[in-house]
Parts: sequence; structure tokens; C-alpha cells
Amino acid sequence: MIIAANLKTNFTRSKTQAYITEIENFLIKKANTQKVLVFPVASSLIKHTGKLTIGAQNAHPAFNGAFTGEIAQEQLDEFEIKTILIGHSERRHIFGETQEEIVKKFNYYKDLLYKIVYCVGEPLDKREAGHDKMMSYISKQYEGIDTSYKKLIIAYEPVWAIGTGLTPTLKDIEFIHKELKEKSLAPLLYGGSIKVTNAKEVLELKNVDGILVGSAALYAKHFCTMIQFAQDLEK
Ligand code: 13P
Repeated sequence: MIIAANLKTNFTRSKTQAYITEIENFLIKKANTQKVLVFPVASSLIKHTGKLTIGAQNAHPAFNGAFTGEIAQEQLDEFEIKTILIGHSERRHIFGETQEEIVKKFNYYKDLLYKIVYCVGEPLDKREAGHDKMMSYISKQYEGIDTSYKKLIIAYEPVWAIGTGLTPTLKDIEFIHKELKEKSLAPLLYGGSIKVTNAKEVLELKNVDGILVGSAALYAKHFCTMIQFAQDLEK
């Protein structure tokens, strides 16, 4: 399975290094075979060879240039980063990234054969508008995306579940994942308030190929526990 940590805007470079070392040591010690991805802050990116893979949370779709405040391919190349998170709801809603801009990023990094973790998910008002409206909202986030791209991983993250401690019911997750699998056969992760206490039951669900964890992943031990759950399930 795929177990991913989105560190968002947390940790310094040295804390990130210590975090990565702790996870890497865990994977080696336990001979863990899960696919583990860690997305640090841009200023904490490092070149890492080992069992876990480091990815970028965001990057501009260009090699380099006049894009104040951004990083782009050149800065990722420096650390041999070949994995990127695209379309996270915090980018869509806090920074106002449009589907058009997201598609540009997707296509740019797809052409470079990056592994892309592509995030979709509905805000609360869309969920409350009923199933059909919710699914049509999510469908729009698939527009322009090559859903058969070989290095695509999709993460379903309901916006209202992110950082709130709220989650859909297990039945809901299973149901939505089944529908999303009809749009793409890419591995499908669930994200949104995953903790040590609920990770196992979510990982056990049909059509859940892994998890994308935010706040709970900041505790290396908790993140390792979740990786171990996945290993024990041997899906
Ligand atoms: P939380 O696990 O903090 O809810 O965040 C999930 C997320 O946004 C991962 O990308």
C-alpha cells in the first residue's frame, strides 16, 4: 500500500532530516515493503536515497524563471525529486489555484514522468448538497487530468475532514472510493483526519490503496505505526 505524509508547513530543515531518518530506520529495521512518501516543506527538501521517497508539496510548471515565491523544476532537480503533490485542497482554497492552473502543473510534471499524487475532494456545502451534486463537483476536479497516467496516484480528501477530526463513515469512504475507481484505476488514497486510531479500519476498506496523512504524521512514531498497519494487512 501507499502511506504518505504531507508535512504541510511544519518542521525546520533539521527537524525534517531527523524525521526522515527516523522513518527510514524504521522501514529498514522492520524490513517494511510499503511504499512510503514524505512531502516536506520546500525549504526542507533533501536528496534522499533509501526506502522512502521524498516529494514536493507544490512546484510551478516551468524549469525556472520569474515566478516570485515559487519553486520549479530546477529546484526539484537539485534534490533529485521526482514526486509531486498536485491539487491539494489547501492550494485550491487558500491559494486560489484553479483547475486550469492545476492541469498545467499536472501536464508539466507528467511530461517529466514524475510520480503525481493528485488530490480531489469536496467542501462541506457540496457534500450537504447531496450525493449527485457532490460527485459532479469531484468530477470537475478530474477534468483535464490524464487518469490513465501510469505514475498517477489519486488522493480523495474531503475538505471538511482535513484537520478537523471529522471523517466520513467507513461505509461512505468505501462507497465514494468505489465510484472514484470508475473514473481511474490509479491507486486511490484516503486523506482527512487519519490518526493511529482510525488508520487500520480505513486501510482495510475495499478500494482504499493507502492513506495521505497530515497532522498525525508529524509524530514519526504514529506515522510508523500506520505504515506497520499497512504491512500487517498485506493487501
Ligand atoms: P489531516 O490529516 O491533518 O486531516 O490532513 C490531511 C491532509 O490534508 C493530507 O494532505
